[in-house]
Amino acid sequence: MPKTALITGATSGLGYEFVKLFAKDGYNLVIVSRNKQKMEQIKQSFQNIEIKVIVKDLSEPNAVKEVIEEMDKQEITIDVLVNNAGFGLLGHFDQLDIQEQLNMIQLNVAALTELTYYLLPKMKQKKDGKILNIASTAAFQPGPLMAVYYATKAYVLSFSEALVEELSDSKVMVTTLCPGPTKTNFGSVANVEGTKMFSRAMNAEIVAKQGYNALLNGKRVVVTGGLNKAGTIAAKFLPRSLAAKIAKSIARKE
Ligand SMILES: NC(=O)c1ccc[n+]([C@@H]2O[C@H](COP(=O)([O-])OP(=O)(O)OC[C@H]3O[C@@H](n4cnc5c(N)ncnc54)[C@H](OP(=O)(O)O)[C@@H]3O)[C@@H](O)[C@H]2O)c1
Repeated sequence: MPKTALITGATSGLGYEFVKLFAKDGYNLVIVSRNKQKMEQIKQSFQNIEIKVIVKDLSEPNAVKEVIEEMDKQEITIDVLVNNAGFGLLGHFDQLDIQEQLNMIQLNVAALTELTYYLLPKMKQKKDGKILNIASTAAFQPGPLMAVYYATKAYVLSFSEALVEELSDSKVMVTTLCPGPTKTNFGSVANVEGTKMFSRAMNAEIVAKQGYNALLNGKRVVVTGGLNKAGTIAAKFLPRSLAAKIAKSIARKE
């Protein structure tokens, strides 16, 4: 019987790469994001597996409960949860729209937490399950000019690493993928294209594959790319104030 993976934000970038990877390995999928047309196209182009499309804006407070209700109605059990949907915004905290930043917290933090909360018990019960949370290299230091985004990703990393420990006696694995700048729609949505930070973005296919392999191999945390790895190690040893200054300098447009 094929396993089922739920992927949020499957319509572009890393999410779409995860769709391809899971499909290749024969997983059935539940895909959740806002763009119905793109998701229907994805469903059509992967005829070898079953894909359930759920159109939902996960930045709305009731969205996750509605996703769970829809899956319960159809008796869909999730074996692998990929909390991928997310976005960032470049700008001074007080000059960015507050509602957009609250939506970001709702999507990047609250929806990820709530999906994990509702899907974890069955995984524990079955003694089988995997969760892949997409954080970022942003998780490792404060991020001036993207203050809320960096903070959401610090939450994702901290939350996920804590769960690994809570679940150490169970068969449920939690893996956190921390990509650095990657060529997806993220750059244009966040308005970070043209910044120093984005001058060397990685290929989405490579980043997703590293996350996928880490998930299958039960790794706790994976940072993609040599330079990104070096950056996160440096961030651990630098004073937080200096790490923040560096993050600010690379968030400026070149
Ligand atoms: N690219 C990078 O440089 C980078 C670096 C580090 C971490 N990340 C993280 O990687 C993850 C994937 O991003 P990406 O780079 O692949 O960006 P992307 O190409 O912009 O993809 C984002 C995905 O999230 C979905 N999404 C956005 N808002 C949503 C909402 N309110 N409700 C439901 N779905 C929503 C989008 O689908 P719809 O538009 O159809 O809703 C899309 O499928 C994010 O968590 C991001 O923070 C990216």
